[in-house]
Amino acid sequence: EVIDLRGLHVLPGLIDPHVHLREPGQTHKETIETGTMAAAAGGFTQICCMPNTSPIVDSSEWVTFIRTTADRFGYATVHPIAAITKGSKGEELTDFDALKKAGAVGFSDDGRGVQSARVMRDALMAAKLLDLPIIVHAEDETLSGAGCMNAGDVAQQLQVPGILSSAETVMIARDVILAQETGAHVHMCHVSPEAAVSVIRYAKQQHVHVTAEVTPHHLLLTDELVLTLGAQAKVNPPLRSEADRAACVRGLLDGTLDMVATDHAPHTEEEKARGLVSGPFGFVGLEVSFPLLYTAFVKSGILSLEKLAYMMSTAPAKHFHLPGGRIEVGGLADFVAVDIAHERRVDVARFRSKGRNTPFVNRMLYGFPVMTIHRGQTVFLDAQ
Ligand code: NCD
Ligand code: ZN
Ligand code: ZN
Ligand code: ZN
Repeated sequence: EVIDLRGLHVLPGLIDPHVHLREPGQTHKETIETGTMAAAAGGFTQICCMPNTSPIVDSSEWVTFIRTTADRFGYATVHPIAAITKGSKGEELTDFDALKKAGAVGFSDDGRGVQSARVMRDALMAAKLLDLPIIVHAEDETLSGAGCMNAGDVAQQLQVPGILSSAETVMIARDVILAQETGAHVHMCHVSPEAAVSVIRYAKQQHVHVTAEVTPHHLLLTDELVLTLGAQAKVNPPLRSEADRAACVRGLLDGTLDMVATDHAPHTEEEKARGLVSGPFGFVGLEVSFPLLYTAFVKSGILSLEKLAYMMSTAPAKHFHLPGGRIEVGGLADFVAVDIAHERRVDVARFRSKGRNTPFVNRMLYGFPVMTIHRGQTVFLDAQ
């Protein structure tokens, strides 16, 4: 059978550094199978998955389970991110050595920041020895912030404009200081407030080993959407002001924010229907991320296609020490062909993900993947 790719653009297999696969434990929301099928449909051949499952991924057995389950299906390669602390309770460190040997590519207590600065410092020193990143769930407003440091100490050490006025930035600032102290690599999850972008820009000027990711929803949406969409616009960190959104876009364009992450967080329709107060946080993102960013930034002429491919493949490969950013991996073809000529509607009924929870439902977009090749095999083909 001849497959005609004329008129399509070929990009390296995309890499998403932040996905919630929900297995083990919450397979009514997503499974490793459906999550990796969604990845393939979105042009992603590699994804990193977060450990906030039930149980929490804090042992090498679960890391191995996730990797081998994903390999058995073969839709995408999954790189587990293991918990920093046992049960993500913020107390006792997990066994970083064993977790790395099992295939963990980093450590995070996503969904729950590590409160104690002492625990975070210990984690950074252990991760530094293994040359792996600590992925911090920063800007968590429910946290008192800096553990044994207080906001005043942090602000004094890190003289960045805006930081004092911004409670949600204290955690990021603390972790920048600890990264500087330990020389470890800190990766900032889903950056969203303007002050956080400023702190990260400052940290990079000081040559602190800090990287950062930003989500399509924080680049494209603002908080007033909650008025019309309610729980469908509920996410953690929250959608913020137009000034924050614009600062994220500037941060992406000037290299302060290194890469795009979907923070794919599937929930069922019934769960989201519980409403703004009781409904869970999060949006699915794998199947809309590339078309959203292509349409908003490349088609409009703000960003080159090469630069978007860099931020969605090369940069995560580089900073998480993964193969990728090229149209082959280990000698096997690994790429996505996207259709930038035709506009299509975001049709949640066609999602491979079990989650339908996206505020971008029914948007008209360019750049949908037509074919995804993962390690030499066709894992997605849109016959239409
Ligand atoms: C995440 C989830 O659902 O696991 N939700 C989200 O809105 N990003 C957890 C989290 O990061 O709070
Ligand atoms: Zn998070
Ligand atoms: Zn997350
Ligand atoms: Zn790095």
